[in-house]
Amino acid sequence: MDDYFMDDFEYKDKSLFCEKVKIENIISKVGTPAYIYSKNAILTRYRELKSAFQNANTLICFSVKSNSNLSICKILAEEGSGFDVVSGGELFRAMRSGGDLSKIVFAGVGKTDKEIRYALGNDIFMFNVESVSELEHINTLAGEMGKIPKVALRINPDIDAKTHVKTTTGKKENKFGIDLTEAEKIIRQSTKYVNINLCGLHVHLGSPIYTVAPYVHALKKIVAFVRRCKDAGFDIEYMNIGGGYCISYTGEKVIRPKEYASKILPFVKEMQCNLIMEPGRFIVGNSGILITRVTYTKETLHGKKFIICDAAMNDLIRPALYDAFHRIWPVNPRVKMPKVEIPNKPEIKKGMYFVDIVGPVCETSDAFATKRALPKVEEGDLLAIFSAGAYGFTMSSSYNSRPRPCEVLVEGDKYRIIRERETYEDLVKGENL
Ligand code: LLP
Repeated sequence: MDDYFMDDFEYKDKSLFCEKVKIENIISKVGTPAYIYSKNAILTRYRELKSAFQNANTLICFSVKSNSNLSICKILAEEGSGFDVVSGGELFRAMRSGGDLSKIVFAGVGKTDKEIRYALGNDIFMFNVESVSELEHINTLAGEMGKIPKVALRINPDIDAKTHVKTTTGKKENKFGIDLTEAEKIIRQSTKYVNINLCGLHVHLGSPIYTVAPYVHALKKIVAFVRRCKDAGFDIEYMNIGGGYCISYTGEKVIRPKEYASKILPFVKEMQCNLIMEPGRFIVGNSGILITRVTYTKETLHGKKFIICDAAMNDLIRPALYDAFHRIWPVNPRVKMPKVEIPNKPEIKKGMYFVDIVGPVCETSDAFATKRALPKVEEGDLLAIFSAGAYGFTMSSSYNSRPRPCEVLVEGDKYRIIRERETYEDLVKGENL
């Protein structure tokens, strides 16, 4: 497949491969459902982003919430990536995978005192702060611990990033960040926070964002703001522009890091500051797939066809939660997978038919796709759900008491399990009778 979709997942002789390994060979050993990731895809995307932004002093902090598996984080830590964490648990994961503490930024509207102490005690790089109360808590706790942490104020620029309503974060009605007027007030009074080094600004508009325009719009506002701060004698050393960089879910062309960089870097230059970015989806989204096996096929008296598979909304919740579109195709297809598939405009070729692809969970929203054009599949066949590397496993649950899938990492012609499939015993671990 081409560069815009999933280049490390390719069909050869009617069989899907991840790098040099046949998917069916992995599945015959590990079973289904299973997440499968390509190490090469992760590295290629990280490097593409890094090289696009190399002209600025840029720190890339991989957004752990998109994929927090230790082995995935380790690949990025070894490559020099920092980490964007939003909880004590994510900080623990980033550290456990070998993450460099001096490259860890901590975001989130609701950091508890316990989490703040944990981060302070580990001397992370920076806190992204989202309210005056949080600033006061960090100031007090840092004082008690004899620390002076770096802090960036998360700005809410009131910009519509034109993404899904549930993943938009930069509008004034959203819970995130501080509006510019209040931020200016905080900055003018920053000397009162004696245990804090207020040295940066942070903004994250939402995700995924399919044009550069919202970033440009936000940065225009912020540059004007930074000028005002400078006039008031306050310098911004770090500008963190968050994440949200899009990937292709359909096979269509989408904008690439170079285009983002060409529009974003001039603002960074003007502000004369270091750049921080927090990509998640861009690095891992198209680096992973979810493989499921067809348990049953079913046709109703009304002529509706269902493919009932052994993965469900608890394994990948994006379609149920955001009506997200994920391409789905058999691992050993009878018809070639089209290069591009436009949601809601299914093309039916010979040998294909319309189906709903659903899981076994007792909810109607447990559907990966409805009215999807698919080649004929039979019970026992394997299906690949593409673009599942970001917000797939990390958002999974054991709803309906379904053990969560295993995760597998492919590297060249080798593969290994990087998270074991959960067992029934795992399901009840920690419960007291
Ligand atoms: N930085 C901050 C402060 C964030 O809140 C997020 C994502 C990121 C960075 C990374 O965004 P990315 O580069 O991965 O787009 N569950 C949703 C996405 C929610 C994103 C939450 N925040 C989904 O499955 O589409």
